[in-house]
Amino acid sequence: MKFFIDTAEVAEIKTWADSGFLDGVTTNPSLIKSSGRDMLEVIAEICAVIDTPVSAEVAALDHPTMLKEAMVLKDIAPNVVVKLPTTLDGLKTCRHLANIGVRTNLTLCFSANQALLAAKAGATYISPFIGRMDDINLDGMNLIRDIRNIYSSFQFKTQILAASIRTVNHVSDAALAGADVATIPASILGKLVHHPLTDKGLEAFVNDWKSTGQTIL
Ligand code: E4P
Repeated sequence: MKFFIDTAEVAEIKTWADSGFLDGVTTNPSLIKSSGRDMLEVIAEICAVIDTPVSAEVAALDHPTMLKEAMVLKDIAPNVVVKLPTTLDGLKTCRHLANIGVRTNLTLCFSANQALLAAKAGATYISPFIGRMDDINLDGMNLIRDIRNIYSSFQFKTQILAASIRTVNHVSDAALAGADVATIPASILGKLVHHPLTDKGLEAFVNDWKSTGQTIL
């Protein structure tokens, strides 16, 4: 499974890019707002830091304006993926962009039918929002499983990008449910490696090794 980072903070992206685990970046208008940065500038800066896919979201709601915005975004750098809402206008824009070879990420997906439409429109990624479904007592992981089944049955190439990840369990559960990618906030990425038994076991090994008086180097 690929790991994307869900942030518009360049410092976080640099840190995780250096770890070697990062396969891409997703941003959205709320993350741009939190960064306090100009969107076009920050997307260009992110694309200079990392050459993997970087999702940048259109702001318009109508197809003609979305398309114009998409052209501006895709010209920022070759690794920009145009993020579009999963609406009829977004899907029309997706089909148009797919026809001219521009990669897309269909966002705010909450149903298998929306995912089916995105695949038919030639989307590169579909982003089911797990955490926001869990927030209202729906099962985000079931949605990923349903989309996986549909995409596998019909051999759609669209990649399932598990979004709105709120917990470490969301990451492993999304992998088990068949997601191709998880986009993860830095706070959750940082927690993935931790296990108290690893820390406890390592402490014992360090102490026992010291007491042997040996060295390797
Ligand atoms: C994904 O592309 C979105 O940017 C993101 O995962 C939304 O997460 P949230 O529901 O925590 O805002």
